[in-house]
This record gives sequence, C-alpha cells and structure tokens, in this order.
Amino acid sequence: MSADTPFSPEDPAAQPASLFPDYRSTVLRSPSQPLIRIPQTLTETSGLSDGWDRLMGGAFADLTTQHEGVALGQRIVVTGRVLDENHRPVPRTVIEIWQANSAGRYAHVRDQWDAPLDPNFSGAGRVVTDDDGAYRYLTVRPGAYPWGNHHNAWRPAHIHLSLLGPAFATRLVTQMYFPDDPLIEIDPIANAVPLPYRQRMVSRFDIGTTVPNWALGYNFDIILRGREATPTED
Ligand SMILES: [Fe+2]
Repeated sequence: MSADTPFSPEDPAAQPASLFPDYRSTVLRSPSQPLIRIPQTLTETSGLSDGWDRLMGGAFADLTTQHEGVALGQRIVVTGRVLDENHRPVPRTVIEIWQANSAGRYAHVRDQWDAPLDPNFSGAGRVVTDDDGAYRYLTVRPGAYPWGNHHNAWRPAHIHLSLLGPAFATRLVTQMYFPDDPLIEIDPIANAVPLPYRQRMVSRFDIGTTVPNWALGYNFDIILRGREATPTED
C-alpha cells in the first residue's frame, strides 16, 4: 500500500467523548464548535517507518535500573504487540512510557502530594517494536494517586503510553490499567471510554510472561488505525 492510502477514521463510539463532565477538565478544554474533518494528505499518511533509534537514541526498556540503586516496588514485565486494525504488526515503531512510582508519585515538580519520591526511579522509558510488532519492558507497578477532580478522587494504577505508529494519523496516547484494580470502575478518565472498549485499556496478567523469582508479567496489545485500502493478500 502506498503512503498516500488514507487511514481509517476514528470510530467515535470507541473513543472518549471530548466533553465528559465527570472528568472536569474536559468541560473547559473540549471544542465548543462542531468538528471539521480534515482530509488526509501525504503529511498525515506518511511518517518515519524506521530509524527511531537514530532519531531518539537507544531504548530504555528497563525502568528499574536507571540509577545507582534499584527502584522500589513490585517488579513487572509488560509485553505485547502493536497491531493495526487489520491485525497486521506495526514493526519498528517507538512506544514512549511514563508513570508514577510504586507509591503513586511522579518525579515531576508539579506533583507535590504526600507520597515518597524514589531517587532510583524516574518513571520514563522507551521501547521500539521488533519485526513482529512485539515489545517488552521492565518496570515497577505504579501506585494509585489522588487528584483534584472531585472529593476523594483517586486514579487507578496506570502506565501512560504514546505511540506515533507509521504516520501522524495513527498517533495514539493512552493509558494501560491493571486487571485487579477496583478504582477503574469509579475513575472518570477510564469511564470516559465506554464499555466494552474500556476493557482494551486493561492489561492481562500472564503467568507465561511472569519471570520466576523475579517479576510478574502483564500482557497488553495496542491497536493503531489501519489503512483504509482492502489488504492485498499474496
Ligand atoms: Fe497519570
């Protein structure tokens, strides 16, 4: 398929509404005018298909040993594949990762709630998918943290992810949740995505990914938009 083959439009039913009043900051930042669809041109349908390492530096696939000591918390391995809507792997694409530490605090000047920082955990990583679209990284399970959305509001444990994919039109910023977390069903950010699509943001515990005597394993596949053309089969 040529680079100027357009990508499928977003399925609005599977995406969070831009205005979701329970998630308070959407009230101010959501568009007040009807959206205008911009046709996809070469700018949106093409991108860097390879060479992320050259552009961004090497991978940071281990978030637990970026400092002198080892990060505190429950070690976890996260694996999965990046696919498009036709279930084709998205190879050699970069995944940027950021998260709170095991106590639920970000190493960021704006995060000042009363939970300890971990001097051995920055909470930022980056991996590139292989030829099969597969990725793997090691981190610690992030803690839940309070936020000011409403009284006694707590974010479920989550890992932030950003993927560009093969083109600007496939850019995805999302969050990965954990399957055993009771905060998901009362979290306005997670609930802005309707069921059953919300489940796509919840990782799966995987004993096969779990490393004996070392780290629990979670599996999380990520699906980017597919090209609109009918796939050609050999
Ligand atoms: Fe967060």
